[in-house]
Amino acid sequence: METLILRTNCNQLKDIVVFFDMPRSLSHDGNALQTFPIPIAPDHSLVYSDSMSQLVVRNLVKHFPIHSGIFQKTTGKVHAVSGVSLTIAPGETLGLVGESGCGKSTLARLIVRLLTPDAGTIMFDGRIITHDSQRSLQSLRRDLQMIFQDPFASLNPRMTVGAILAEPFRIHRVGTRRDRPGRVAALLDLVGLAAEAMHRYPHEFSGGERQRIGIARAIALRPKLVIADEPVSALDVSVQGEILNLLLDLQEQLGLAYLLIAHDIKVVAQISHRIAVMYLGRIVETLPAAELLRACHPYTHALLASVPEPNPAQARAISPIGGDVPSPIAPPRGCPFHPRCPRRQLPLCAETMPAMTAHAGDRHAACHFPVDSHTAHDERSPSLPHARS
Ligand SMILES: Nc1ncnc2c1ncn2[C@@H]1O[C@H](COP(=O)(O)OP(=O)(O)OP(=O)(O)O)[C@@H](O)[C@H]1O
Ligand code: SF4
Ligand SMILES: [Mg+2]
Repeated sequence: METLILRTNCNQLKDIVVFFDMPRSLSHDGNALQTFPIPIAPDHSLVYSDSMSQLVVRNLVKHFPIHSGIFQKTTGKVHAVSGVSLTIAPGETLGLVGESGCGKSTLARLIVRLLTPDAGTIMFDGRIITHDSQRSLQSLRRDLQMIFQDPFASLNPRMTVGAILAEPFRIHRVGTRRDRPGRVAALLDLVGLAAEAMHRYPHEFSGGERQRIGIARAIALRPKLVIADEPVSALDVSVQGEILNLLLDLQEQLGLAYLLIAHDIKVVAQISHRIAVMYLGRIVETLPAAELLRACHPYTHALLASVPEPNPAQARAISPIGGDVPSPIAPPRGCPFHPRCPRRQLPLCAETMPAMTAHAGDRHAACHFPVDSHTAHDERSPSLPHARS
């Protein structure tokens, strides 16, 4: 399969990426007579009219095989990511939220190509990277970086902070050995740490300071997109706000786009422009953060209802989510949320997978019986922060 990128000079028009299959007509002696491109269009991943996006993910799938017995035969698979599509614009923050085990980290690892997808397409900065070799991914790493949940585990305890932060410059041959201490000092300053921190080791810092070091390493090469996987969930509540504010400041200064992953909807609501809600390996709703309280999907409302309410008088109509997430080894038929959904109607919800449908206010939800937006308004929660526009 070949890929053609049609790039236009007009700002009004977007680049268009088209996949072509190149069938060849053969003469009797087997030589190609002519080549003619035919667009193959099995699904909506064919044409990306939105290649202005920093990141486009279409129908991404990752199933982990389960092996058992002495011959390690494959006896099943974990449906970690099952057909995820999303986009992130330059400078935008997309918050990805969902319960533990729903596939958030697997999706992040697929996007940065630490894992190879079973199916689907990833386009970053106008280039399809789905099957790039590790070698060609090297240059991608400059523009696409990751921040991890546990900064302590991701920082080498035997290296000084100076050596840790100089590594990206060394690996990507940026600047000279002599100017590296200056670059490291500037990075530390950007994340609110003193230059003398470069002489110390990771264990000498608090959790919040270590996360600042992890962030400094991620932004060292001025990436275009940073994937932050639970960047504050290991931190004290008092420190969480400081780190989120730092991410906001850096976005403003450096024009970064973020994919911010969290299981706490309050955290993503705080700094995201748009929110994607994930359940059992699928995106079930995407919507602007400002529309969060008018969400269409019952699962989004269940997540909202699980935010602790400081004022008991503000009781919500929809109760917090009950039951456990079903096993991703055997996800339920029909709507994956139906065993726990208070709005389910049988047999439709148990038999037919709902398609992603557009609703007013740029909301998209996969639900046969979406929550009425007027009801949703009544559940306004004072405990959620103001959304970004
Ligand atoms: N390498 C792997 N081999 C087999 N199964 C895996 C592997 N990595 C993840 N999984 C499984 O895939 C599912 C999704 O895991 P993932 O870590 O992506 O979830 P998550 O949403 O990030 O969860 P959490 O909020 O706890 O971090 C889980 O059932 C997990 O056990
Ligand atoms: S499709 Fe049915 S079960 Fe699924 S979320 Fe909507 S109402 Fe609930
Ligand atoms: Mg995770």
